[in-house]
Amino acid sequence: MAEPGDAGAVESVWAEVAAEGEWIGAEAPLRPGWGDRFRAALAAPESCWFVVEAGGRVVGGAFVQDERGVGHLGMAIAGAHRGVGLGRLLLDAAVGWARDRGCHKMTLEVWPHNLRARRLYESAGFAEEGYLRRHHRRRDGALWDAVAMGLVLDDDSPGRP
Ligand SMILES: CC(C)(COP(=O)(O)OP(=O)(O)OC[C@H]1O[C@@H](n2cnc3c(N)ncnc32)[C@H](O)[C@@H]1OP(=O)(O)O)[C@@H](O)C(=O)NCCC(=O)NCCS
Repeated sequence: MAEPGDAGAVESVWAEVAAEGEWIGAEAPLRPGWGDRFRAALAAPESCWFVVEAGGRVVGGAFVQDERGVGHLGMAIAGAHRGVGLGRLLLDAAVGWARDRGCHKMTLEVWPHNLRARRLYESAGFAEEGYLRRHHRRRDGALWDAVAMGLVLDDDSPGRP
């Protein structure tokens, strides 16, 4: 679980990954007040952040925001630390938090070209639930497609009769 003192380190990771311009929704430069929003998310019971460290330094993070039982997930790892299992660690922690909180589902959006992330989510049980065409306006005016993915955590509650 992240701590308020991780704000600067996590912001650096997000800024680095945003600057790649390929993988996450956030774009560089990050909007002002990023650290304040991070600390507010830590303080709020309906959201949480997890971080992973390598060599004593924070190199990645994941957040979950619980909105009416649906946990919205986002995550990023600095480029030099991908592909060694840290993403799986973060994802398992995030899903565990949502389960413990009683969320009935987790959801996320991923760019269609982000095959590594899609593979990770699928391997953790997430399923593709939709393809969102020309859904996100980027700062350069382009409209990017997104894939909606979901993980059902509650299979027991009844559905619509
Ligand atoms: C997507 C991301 C979180 C995955 O984390 P990671 O630490 O790189 O991935 P892991 O090492 O934990 O690998 C988990 C799974 O991802 C897949 N994977 C990992 N590296 C991969 C690669 N180079 N190509 C394809 N799939 C890959 C594998 O299925 C792997 O499972 P396995 O260990 O059973 O083979 C990370 O790469 C990242 O932060 N990327 C940039 C930001 C981003 O894309 N965020 C997600 C936005 S939706």
